[in-house]
Amino acid sequence: MKIVLIGATGTLGRAIDAQLSASHQIIPVGRSRGQHQVDITSQASVEALFKAIGRVDAIVSATGSMHFGPLTEMTAEQFNIGLQDKLLGQVRLALVGQHYLEDGGSITLTSGIVANEPIRYGANATAVNSAVEGFARGAAIELPRGLRINVVSPTVVTESMDVYAPYFPGFEPAPAARVALAYQRSVEGPQTGQVYRVW
Ligand SMILES: NC(=O)c1ccc[n+]([C@@H]2O[C@H](COP(=O)([O-])OP(=O)(O)OC[C@H]3O[C@@H](n4cnc5c(N)ncnc54)[C@H](OP(=O)(O)O)[C@@H]3O)[C@@H](O)[C@H]2O)c1
Repeated sequence: MKIVLIGATGTLGRAIDAQLSASHQIIPVGRSRGQHQVDITSQASVEALFKAIGRVDAIVSATGSMHFGPLTEMTAEQFNIGLQDKLLGQVRLALVGQHYLEDGGSITLTSGIVANEPIRYGANATAVNSAVEGFARGAAIELPRGLRINVVSPTVVTESMDVYAPYFPGFEPAPAARVALAYQRSVEGPQTGQVYRVW
């Protein structure tokens, strides 16, 4: 399959690339690195990406920023960071990308364990990750031509623990290579509207 991987240069993206590139052609995309560059917060940028790449069999997104900070100091502008970036950015990849998918193709987005397990400073992340999952459930029943859409919800990744450990006390991290298997399941498997939890 020809698979466009947005976020390919990140912690999770590198592991997904390693897992999928054994049997597929991966087009690695980052914001500033990778074979192609895109800014998922820009409609023009996402449209230009797909125009440049053309038709694909799968779209995998392992990217998206959110705001982390105490609720008592949170502003609507800060909350909007996650809405515009991780939520609408990934939704935009799906909305534009669906028209570039071959029949039977798939879209795989990324949420996170904080959707179900709130952490301190994580109100934006809980809301955004839940909304990404809601979008995929809603979109799955409307996609034509046998197209599928799923979400991978990783726990905190072992390779990110040096930064994230203080925010995830008592959480069991998962190696990025294990999380990558869920993306393979979404791309190569038959399911749609699913959230693959790697916890
Ligand atoms: N790491 C974890 O423990 C963990 C756990 C659960 C969920 N997640 C979720 O998994 C996703 C990836 O996390 P990560 O830790 O792998 O992130 P990361 O290491 O920071 O990598 C981010 C990737 O996204 C790209 N990127 C950043 N901003 C972008 C934009 N505006 N448009 C397009 N691409 C952009 C980066 O490209 P450049 O390299 O070119 O800048 C890079 O490839 C995020 O949604 C995160 O919330 C992560």
